[in-house]
This record gives sequence, structure tokens and C-alpha cells, in this order.
Amino acid sequence: MTEIVELGSTEQSFNKTPDHRSVQKHSNYFEIYDQYLRKFKNTRPVIVEIGVQHGGSLLIWNDFFGGNADIVGLDILEGCRKFASDNVRIFIGDQSDEKFLDEVVAAVGQADIIIDDGSHIPRHQIKTFEVLFYKLLKAGGVYICEDCHTSYWPRYGGGLRKSGTFIEFAKRLCDQQNAWNSESRSLVVDQATRSIRSVSFYTSVVVFEKAIMTEPRLVEAGGTKIDLESGFRANGLARFILPLKRSALIQRMVRTNPFLWRLMRRFLGARQG
Ligand SMILES: C[S@@+](CC[C@H](N)C(=O)[O-])C[C@H]1O[C@@H](n2cnc3c(N)ncnc32)[C@H](O)[C@@H]1O
Repeated sequence: MTEIVELGSTEQSFNKTPDHRSVQKHSNYFEIYDQYLRKFKNTRPVIVEIGVQHGGSLLIWNDFFGGNADIVGLDILEGCRKFASDNVRIFIGDQSDEKFLDEVVAAVGQADIIIDDGSHIPRHQIKTFEVLFYKLLKAGGVYICEDCHTSYWPRYGGGLRKSGTFIEFAKRLCDQQNAWNSESRSLVVDQATRSIRSVSFYTSVVVFEKAIMTEPRLVEAGGTKIDLESGFRANGLARFILPLKRSALIQRMVRTNPFLWRLMRRFLGARQG
């Protein structure tokens, strides 16, 4: 089977890497880059990458955007300074150091694209996201965290469903996106709810799109009255639960009693669409 490589794709830029630089990427990353970065072509984006190493990926971004991008590289190694050029700025520091990240924010201002290809240590990935996603990324921007499989590697502090890993952190942000409709006291609208448009999980990669999010409104069209819970009511038990759910007194009782609360959530959760 012939492999089709899209013209002007990040894979094509990767394949142009000259002998005096080197770069390693997982093969599934190119499709993800192309999907999220294409919209920034011809917009002179500011792209920030954590992890410079041999400067290989800096060349990919430069080639992909046709030299029309402001590129910022962050690395802990002094030697990476040598990759600075007219449109490439290099900052040396530790991505888990909030003070360093704040200095980068102050110097760079705003970014369209942030790619974390640094230490891949989950707690570093989380700290970097918490600072750069909220303080540096523009609304309309994209945040790509790579090599998230380390969230499953014990030597990186990972493990299946282990709290404190980047994957579990990202899953919680998915909960935060839904806080507008939460019936749980522990899930309330916050900064993440108001600024995360999407969280997308790929093999080893999590991508976040940033936007100014406001509470979604229910909109209707057409003349027929719509009964939103008709699907729910069609289920037998809902006949008993719905009147309970509507009673303010019962609701207060349930909310203040953890056992009743769990019981109610169990029935409602199983039956709501
Ligand atoms: C996978 S390499 C980056 C490769 C580069 N993005 C490329 O594709 O050409 C990871 C880099 O992260 C840097 N790094 C490791 N720990 C770091 C930390 N705590 N803060 C900032 N950079 C770190 C390493 O020095 C290394 O150069």
C-alpha cells in the first residue's frame, strides 16, 4: 500500500530534518499536529514548545509555517541557547518551576500554540499546564501535551488510574467542562469550565482547545412543545423519581443526607440520557 503524506504536512517537515539536527516523534503525532495546527498557517502564530533538545522540532514548526511563525523553546539545558535565531527565542529553566514559567509568560505575552515535549514527568506536565494554559495561551489557542503514556509508568510516578498523573488530571478537566449542568456539590463552574472548549484524548497525547466559554443555553425551533424529559419518563422508575426530584423539600433532604444523595444519583444517573 502506498503511504499518502499530505503536502505541507508536519510529517513532510519532519522528513526534511538535516543531518546536523535530530528529532524523534511517535508516528501518530503528525496527524494530530496537522489537525490542530493547520488553522494557524499564514497567521504568524506564536508557538511555544517545552523541550528543545537538539532543536529538531523547532525546525519542523519553522518549515510547517513557512518561516512565518514566532517560535519559543523552553529547556532546562543551557546548551539549547544555541538554537536561537531571528524568529526563535530560547528560555532556559525548569518547567516545574512556576517562577520560571511566569518569567516566560511576562516575556512572551500570549501564545497561539503550546506543545509540552519536556520532561514528560506527570507532575511537571500538570504544573506547566496550570500556568501556561491559563496565563499564556490565547482564546482560540491549542495546548498539546505529548508522551502522556508516562502517566502509566511507575518510574515516572504513574500507574493505572493513579491520582496525580496527567491523564487523571485531564479526565478531571473533562468533568469541569460539564460543571454547568452539575447536580453535584463537588463539581462547580471554575476557570477550567470557563476556558476549556475541548479536551481530546489520543494515544499518548492530550489536546486542549481554549475558548471563552459561557453557559450553554437551551435553544428551540419549531412550533411543537418539547418535553425534554420524555425519554427519561418512558423508563418505569422515573415515574416515582421525577415527582421526588421536583419537590424542593425532598431535594433539600436528599442534598443534606449523603446516603440519600448517593441513592438518588444512582437512580437518576442510570436513567438520564
Ligand atoms: C524529548 S526532548 C525534546 C525534543 C524536541 N521537542 C524535539 O522533538 O526535537 C525533551 C527535552 O526536555 C528537556 N527537559 C527535561 N526536563 C526538563 C524540565 N524540568 N524543564 C524543562 N525542560 C526539560 C530535556 O533537556 C530535553 O531536551
